[in-house]
Amino acid sequence: MSSATPAAAPDVSNPDVVLVVDFGAQYAQLIARRVREARVYSEIVPSTMPVAEMLAKNPKAIILSGGPSSVYAEGAPRLDRALFEAGVPVFGMCYGFQLMATTLGGTVDNTGAREYGRTPLHVSKAGSTLFEGTPVEQSVWMSHGDACSAAPEGFTVTASTDVVPVAAFENDEKKLYGVQYHPEVLHSTHGQQILEHFLYRGAGIEPSWTTGNVIEEQVAAIRAQVGGKRAICGLSGGVDSAVAAALVQKAIGSQLTCVYVDHGLMRKGETEQVEKDFVAATGANLKVVDAQERFLDALAGVSDPETKRKIIGREFIRVFEQAQLEILQEEGPEVAFLVQGTLYPDIVESGGGTGTANIKSHHNVGGLPDDIEFELVEPLRQLFKDEVRMVGQELGLPEEIVQRQPFPGPGLGIRIVGEVTKDRLDLLREADAIAREELTAAGLDREIWQCPVVLLADVRSVGVQGDGRTYGHPIVLRPVSSEDAMTADWSRLPYEVLAKISTRITNEVADVNRVVLDVTSKPPGTIEWE
Ligand code: XMP
Repeated sequence: MSSATPAAAPDVSNPDVVLVVDFGAQYAQLIARRVREARVYSEIVPSTMPVAEMLAKNPKAIILSGGPSSVYAEGAPRLDRALFEAGVPVFGMCYGFQLMATTLGGTVDNTGAREYGRTPLHVSKAGSTLFEGTPVEQSVWMSHGDACSAAPEGFTVTASTDVVPVAAFENDEKKLYGVQYHPEVLHSTHGQQILEHFLYRGAGIEPSWTTGNVIEEQVAAIRAQVGGKRAICGLSGGVDSAVAAALVQKAIGSQLTCVYVDHGLMRKGETEQVEKDFVAATGANLKVVDAQERFLDALAGVSDPETKRKIIGREFIRVFEQAQLEILQEEGPEVAFLVQGTLYPDIVESGGGTGTANIKSHHNVGGLPDDIEFELVEPLRQLFKDEVRMVGQELGLPEEIVQRQPFPGPGLGIRIVGEVTKDRLDLLREADAIAREELTAAGLDREIWQCPVVLLADVRSVGVQGDGRTYGHPIVLRPVSSEDAMTADWSRLPYEVLAKISTRITNEVADVNRVVLDVTSKPPGTIEWE
């Protein structure tokens, strides 16, 4: 069995790192992204990390995130006072603010004075470090049960709300700042400005971090890691693997071989984009494996979604391993690296910061030596999705690849409800292409997260077309808006766009006589139908 061991994060020096201490929930990732939008490099650390370890990272500033706990709850995360005494500027938000207040001797009451959602904030110190240049009345996003009634000694109260007397405070001398609300969410109208005031004015950090720096740093790190050996990268057609491959290609050129498994489950034009446009843009060595027949054979007679997924996953690994074996047998330097498009959220979600997904090959194709271990090259492990797109753009990748919406690995195989056959795939590809074309023409690509187009192959309904009765299949449109695919809402698309898609699909796609719209949020519905 071949396996891949995760490499340590490339040793990239980020002299201006801001640490975001994660107190739970989803806030820390959003804060880290906002810091980077302010062109300052940020990393997330768990609240359980000892303060000494945080300080050893030599952060230029530390941000304490919000979290779901009450500072009074049993077992609620705490903070070592030493964090506030190290001379590093600190910004507490929501739970982080309350923790800062209680740790430093202020008062936080469990008064039942709750505030949730949009709340008017009254700024009492307009010239303060955080609030300078922002309106004295502004809308902020609150989500708390406890309230701070007295700031710690040495702190100036800079804002309040109708319910909370201390909604923001600062101690400029010690470089400690806090707000009760969530400046990272867009509903806080001046949130980004306040965060930037903390970073630039409070902590004195220069906004100099860009995706351009990332490319330079990563190219150097990849060269150092790979040396004169060879690397393999699997391309899926998605953004992450394409950008990772392009970055590695820039670093090591012909030492990289990309592998694209054409499983026949891609959408119209996508395989050609990889084969032609990606190669033209990067000059990468690409090995395309045409495995369409193999996948169709393996999927014959199978309707159950999970069985389909298993079959597609299994066949994919077998084909990919076969391709690996062929590359290993080619003349040239040792093949020792496998490139993966792992992103920062994958790393944070799989335990935060140090460990990474350990992608193993599950099947032995026979002939692949048992002891082959690839070291992973993961040049995107510091980046969020929007940053990956920016890097891709700077590397000159085609817009269609860089801006591609999420698409499931098993492809159209899980968008045919029923058995997957060549005819059905072709039919769905046509319908999907029409929907994509019209959504793009209407300028809706950025507005929707993704729009699965689903063929209900096991369903037929009666219709009438031309001068005859039809008995065709329905196509389902599933446009959704979402932040992260964990939850989603159905997109309220303009009727004219829906009408155009429906008319075109029923006119242009044989055997489809009905188009229906899925108006279910997630939960309870998932985004995909299978
Ligand atoms: P669901 O349907 O679970 O989808 O709401 C959430 C997101 O994940 C994608 N998805 C998959 N991606 N393999 C993948 O790589 C899969 O088996 C798979 N199933 C769903 C889906 O497109 C959406 O973005």
